[in-house]
Amino acid sequence: MPPADAPTDALDQHHDQEHLSATADEPVMPEGQGRAQGPVMLITGASSGIGAAVATRFAATAGWRLLLHGRDAERLDQVAARTGGTALRADLTDPASASRIAAAAIGSAGRVDVLVAAAGVGWAGPFTDIPASAIDEVLAVDLASVVHLVRHLLPQMIERGRGRIVLLGSIAGAVGVGDEAVYSAAKAALGTFADSLAYELRGTGVTICLVLPGIVDTPFFERRGTPPRRSGLKALTPEEVADAVWRAVMMRPRAEIFLPRWLRLPARIHGAVPLVFRRLAERFG
Ligand SMILES: NC(=O)c1ccc[n+]([C@@H]2O[C@H](COP(=O)([O-])OP(=O)(O)OC[C@H]3O[C@@H](n4cnc5c(N)ncnc54)[C@H](OP(=O)(O)O)[C@@H]3O)[C@@H](O)[C@H]2O)c1
Repeated sequence: MPPADAPTDALDQHHDQEHLSATADEPVMPEGQGRAQGPVMLITGASSGIGAAVATRFAATAGWRLLLHGRDAERLDQVAARTGGTALRADLTDPASASRIAAAAIGSAGRVDVLVAAAGVGWAGPFTDIPASAIDEVLAVDLASVVHLVRHLLPQMIERGRGRIVLLGSIAGAVGVGDEAVYSAAKAALGTFADSLAYELRGTGVTICLVLPGIVDTPFFERRGTPPRRSGLKALTPEEVADAVWRAVMMRPRAEIFLPRWLRLPARIHGAVPLVFRRLAERFG
């Protein structure tokens, strides 16, 4: 159900070019059956980094209609022009933005088959130094806006008996990271949200997947003003994460995808024996 009370005028909508369908190995989501019926994907945070790479990935390989959310008009328009997507601009710190994005997406394409929630913001430093405004920003963009957007889009997916939700979590949310307490907490909550919602989605035809990357080479760290802390990790490219999102959408449903895959191990150790994990983390960083 599109949110009836949601004004769309705060959203700028631009390019509206669609793509021909393409084939994929073992696709689970149906391929586009022509321009009007092609599956619709809404990507938040499509103006940069991982979200932009996801847009490029789906524009290049499948017959998707892309609805691209971002905040920076110039960069968002560039991605929209490059991928043939429709730009939907909104600031996710605005509590009304999720309903506006959902209304604009459904108004533009009639429905959303897949949501890729990639918008996110970081903050790093001692917890006692974080300004109240940064706490609010991280919790709003990384958690609250995602939950609200899913709330707005899910009823229609369930009604149609089909849909995929892919959330960008982080390894920080799986194990906790010093100097990133609020960001880690927001990403951990996203993981628990996905886990809990998965129970309700059983048998509905809608699935939810959490993608948990380590370090990805995007403007994320420059924007937050501090480099990544876990220097032992080799940075992934945003294209590698986009490939994982592609698999999450096109292949058999999976509850979570760690990137790189071996990061599943520290996450499991943290879950099973947190004290041992903490000692190892204190010793090896
Ligand atoms: N980079 C990493 O190492 C890493 C690791 C693990 C998880 N992640 C997660 O992956 C996701 C994508 O991050 P990224 O690396 O691609 O970062 P990025 O390049 O900085 O992109 C972040 C995106 O989020 C959007 N965004 C941020 N604040 C917003 C706001 N208030 N309103 C609307 N949009 C907002 C940005 O929009 P504008 O550019 O238009 O402002 C941009 O499109 C995030 O959820 C992040 O937490 C990243």
